[in-house]
Amino acid sequence: MDQMSFSAFSKEYKSIIEKAAAEYVRGLNAPEIVKESMIYSLQAGGKRIRPLLVFATLAAFGKDLNRGIPAASAIEMIHTYSLIHDDLPSMDDDDLRRGKPTNHKVFGEAVAVLAGDALLTFSFEVIAAMDHPEVTASQKLQLIKEIAASAGASGMVGGQIADMEGENKQLSLEELQYIHEHKTGKLLQASVLSGAILAGANEEQLKALKTFAYHIGLAFQIRDDILDIEGNQELIGKPVGSDETNHKSTYPALLTLEGAKEALHHHVTKAHESLSRTGLETELLTALTNLIADREY
Ligand code: IPE
Ligand code: IPE
Ligand code: MG
Ligand code: MG
Ligand code: MG
Repeated sequence: MDQMSFSAFSKEYKSIIEKAAAEYVRGLNAPEIVKESMIYSLQAGGKRIRPLLVFATLAAFGKDLNRGIPAASAIEMIHTYSLIHDDLPSMDDDDLRRGKPTNHKVFGEAVAVLAGDALLTFSFEVIAAMDHPEVTASQKLQLIKEIAASAGASGMVGGQIADMEGENKQLSLEELQYIHEHKTGKLLQASVLSGAILAGANEEQLKALKTFAYHIGLAFQIRDDILDIEGNQELIGKPVGSDETNHKSTYPALLTLEGAKEALHHHVTKAHESLSRTGLETELLTALTNLIADREY
């Protein structure tokens, strides 16, 4: 495939995924209020890093990117559900997300919880219903298994539990790494692996990409922790200082801001190294890695 420029790629595929995800939800035979609440958070903005990882991984294998649309939409739905629940008063109790009032502020807690539940379950319906001549039933099952494990108790949910249990405590670096790897890393890893599964990657390629995704997952959350301290609220669209208010264990809290920046650099370097060992066309994945490291929002 001709490698298109990263900015053209991200602009085009962000727009594709935003339209597709909302279209899927509009097509649901469901009460208007839950659809409205789901679409509100889906369309509130967001960097769409996970969908872009699905597409960039397909590009690395030279495959048509459009086969990634259902999986990328599904992963963005799961991510959006996790943000709706993460912001609830019983969790981080935040009022601003993607530059807009959080879902529960607009729709109330009960609808926000249910809209999250609906996004999560619907994501698997979208994947199960996907139809592409080169995607086999066995690949679809592999995809469902990977995404479910990454989002569930052994993945993101497990990380969110550990994150809550770690409040007001001094954690070890190992415990903190468990939190970051799970609450954030797993879904980012699933995004890369979904692209790879859809591209028909072999075991060796999957292994190399898993290592790459592990490092960008950690880098992504370390950057998130840093931005919670020194980010610009206007730009990041969510409250700065939420972690400190909630007495969260974060990389800067444990290692100082400088130490967190060093850890970020370490994981970004490792990500680039693992990418270069894949033997794939990794220009778009390299650009996404740099974006994750340097992002201001
Ligand atoms: C925020 O994710 C929550 C974390 C997992 C750190 P993003 O920073 O990807 O949020 P959006 O999708 O761009 O709003
Ligand atoms: C949230 O981590 C991770 C998930 C939503 C699974 P944070 O609580 O740090 O995310 P933000 O900073 O609110 O986006
Ligand atoms: Mg949280
Ligand atoms: Mg939060
Ligand atoms: Mg955060």
